[in-house]
Amino acid sequence: MKIIRTIAELHAARSEARAAGATRVGFVPTMGALHEGHLSLLRTARAENDLVVLSIFVNPTQFTEPSDLDAYPRTEEADAALAATAGVDLIFAPDAAELYPSGHATTVHVAGRLTETLEGAGRGEAHFDGMATIVTKLLLAVLPSTAYFGQKDAQQLLVVQRMVADLGIPTRIAACPTARAADGLALSSRNVRLNAAERSRAIAIPRALAAADALVTEGVRDVGALRAAASEILAAADITPEYLAFVIPESLAPIDSVDGPVLCAIAARVGEVRLIDNVVLTPTPESTQE
Ligand code: PAF
Repeated sequence: MKIIRTIAELHAARSEARAAGATRVGFVPTMGALHEGHLSLLRTARAENDLVVLSIFVNPTQFTEPSDLDAYPRTEEADAALAATAGVDLIFAPDAAELYPSGHATTVHVAGRLTETLEGAGRGEAHFDGMATIVTKLLLAVLPSTAYFGQKDAQQLLVVQRMVADLGIPTRIAACPTARAADGLALSSRNVRLNAAERSRAIAIPRALAAADALVTEGVRDVGALRAAASEILAAADITPEYLAFVIPESLAPIDSVDGPVLCAIAARVGEVRLIDNVVLTPTPESTQE
């Protein structure tokens, strides 16, 4: 496994691998602080590709709160050790000047509801502009056949899919299931910043999602009733969500009734730490109440 700092070195390593017969290149972009969620993306990439590239870059332009950027864990040595266990071939870990050279003036902006609602409303438009710009730059640097993204960041995934389609980037975007701790909490690099009490309160987030899911399975279709049940669980853990949204998974348009698959998404602060999670609620014909 090689650690690469520059785009030129990355292109050289990629050409060398291609000359040696590696045609399928799998890419997992991360901001480091690797956990089991990243490792499951890397293992999928390993199983499906000849060459696996991991990027580690804490992208300053997608942080809308300086304190969040400062507090973001940076653990490159431990990340490299974990990446080796997942069979990564190349780690691309550039510094900011490599990706944002002096005079950098280009931003990739995905317009409309996909970036304006939920995370876009909560964190500001700059968040998705920063994310879309860095993902474009990373895809152009790595030139992967497939890039792997977690469903936990469902809106990020939609924005990346839209952007790749619109710009004609020849990379398949693979959506991978959310990895969870045994108690259901979605794995996130931010979880390490929760103290013990906050960590136990945070479980209310996946429980609220699970409660909405169970009600849909029982035949409840009214979003008001689902929202009330989920809100009650959050409130019992003293969590006031920034949003608790029921939206169409592809467009993020809000809905009142579960008549097909619905993305139920939550963002909430537990202490200082902002967490997000979601589940797709899927009504089955058998569970439809008359
Ligand atoms: O999901 C993340 O970790 C980041 O948003 C990404 C895709 C690596 C871009 O910085």
